[in-house]
Amino acid sequence: MDIENRYMANVFSKKPVVLTRGQGSLVWDINGKEYIDSTSSYGVAALGHCHPKIVEAIKAQADQLITCHSCYYNDKRAEFIEKLVKITPKGLNKAFLSNSGAESIECAMKLARKATGKTEIIALMGSYHGKTMGALSATWDKKYRTPFLPLVPDIKHVPPDNADKIEEAITENTAAVLMEPIRGEGGIRVPPNGYLQKVREICNKSGVLLILDEVQTSFGRTGKLFGCQNWDITPDIMCLAKPFAGGLPVGITVAKENIMAAFKVGEHSTTFSGSPIVCATGCAAIDVLVEEKLADKAASDGKYFKNKLEDLATKHKIIKEIRGLGLMLGIELRYDVYGVIAKMLNKGILVIDAGRTVVRMLPPLIITRPQIDLIITALDTALGEEENERGSSPISN
Ligand SMILES: Cc1ncc(COP(=O)(O)O)c(C=O)c1O
Repeated sequence: MDIENRYMANVFSKKPVVLTRGQGSLVWDINGKEYIDSTSSYGVAALGHCHPKIVEAIKAQADQLITCHSCYYNDKRAEFIEKLVKITPKGLNKAFLSNSGAESIECAMKLARKATGKTEIIALMGSYHGKTMGALSATWDKKYRTPFLPLVPDIKHVPPDNADKIEEAITENTAAVLMEPIRGEGGIRVPPNGYLQKVREICNKSGVLLILDEVQTSFGRTGKLFGCQNWDITPDIMCLAKPFAGGLPVGITVAKENIMAAFKVGEHSTTFSGSPIVCATGCAAIDVLVEEKLADKAASDGKYFKNKLEDLATKHKIIKEIRGLGLMLGIELRYDVYGVIAKMLNKGILVIDAGRTVVRMLPPLIITRPQIDLIITALDTALGEEENERGSSPISN
C-alpha cells in the first residue's frame, strides 16, 4: 500500500485491501481473507477470475506470438474478429480494436464525424463514457469535466429518458446521438419502455447516427448478449470493452460496413490494436459466453438477485429504490453509500458505487445462487448497522 501510495498518481479512491489472488467469483487478500467479488473488477471479470479457459488461452498464445502490429495479418486476430461479428447485432460487422472503453468511444466519435461530415454529438445528462478528452467531453458529471475545460466542442447534453429532448437538440450539423442503453455510473438507470425505440426512429428520420456505449451493458450482463437487444434496436456504431478479452485490456468499436468505410488508411490506429494475446483470450471469452449461455444465466440469476434485493427494500427504510436488469443492479440509498461499501468489505464482499447514493452490483456472470445469498445476508447486516449509526436522518447529500 505504501509503495502504491508513494509512486502511483493519486487518482483512484483506494480501498484498504491488497488483493493477490482470484478464482471464479472469489478473490483473496494478502492475508488470505476471502471476498466475493460483486464488482467483477468494474465489470471486467464477467467470467470470474482466472477462468481455466482464459488461463489456457493466455498460456498457449504466450508461447506463439504476443504482439503483432495490425499492419501485419494474424491468425488469432482474424479468428477473434469473426467470432465477434457472428454475435454482434445484425449489420454491425466491421470492427476497430483498441485497448479500453474510452478508446472505443474516441473511435466512435471520430468515425461519426468522418462518416457524416458533421460535428455535433448529442449525449445524455447523467451519462458516463470515460475520461480521455473526447470521451470526457461526452461524460456528464461536472466533477470529472470542470478541471479540464475547455473540452472537445460541439457536444451537447440533453435530459435522459425523454426522446423529445433529443429531437429538439438535433440540428443540420448533428452527426450522432451517443448514449448508454442503461446508464451505469449514472446510477444504474434503466430507460422507460419505448424510449430507445423512439430514439432509434428519430435518428433514422433525421439521418443522425446512433452510437450505443455498451461498455458496461454487453457480454450478457443485462440478460441479452448486448443491452440494445432488450429493446430490439440496433445502433449504427457500438462501443464495447471491459470483459471481451477475459480480463486483458480491450476496446472494440463495431459499426455498419458503410459507416466504417468512411475511415481511410492512417486516419485511426493504435499500436496495440488487436494484439494476438488479447485476441486469443477474446476468442476463449466469447466461446465461454456462448457455450455456457451466460446471458440467459444473467437473466434468471438477475431476477433472483433483484427479488432478494426488493425483499431487503421492504425491511430497510434506508433503501430508496432497486433498479437494474440482469446482473447489472443498483440499490439506491437515502444516504451516501460509502459506509455500506466499507462495511461490506469488512464482511468479505466487494461492491462499488454508481454515483454517491447507489450501491452497484456487477457480479461475475458465473456467480452461484448460494454466493448471491451470502451477498444478500451481508448487505442485510450492513444496512442494519448503517441505519443504527445514522438513525432515520434523511439523505446527507
Ligand atoms: C459505459 C461506459 N463507457 C465507457 C467507460 C470507459 O471505459 P474505460 O474505463 O475502459 O476507459 C466505462 C467505464 O466504466 C463505462 O462504464
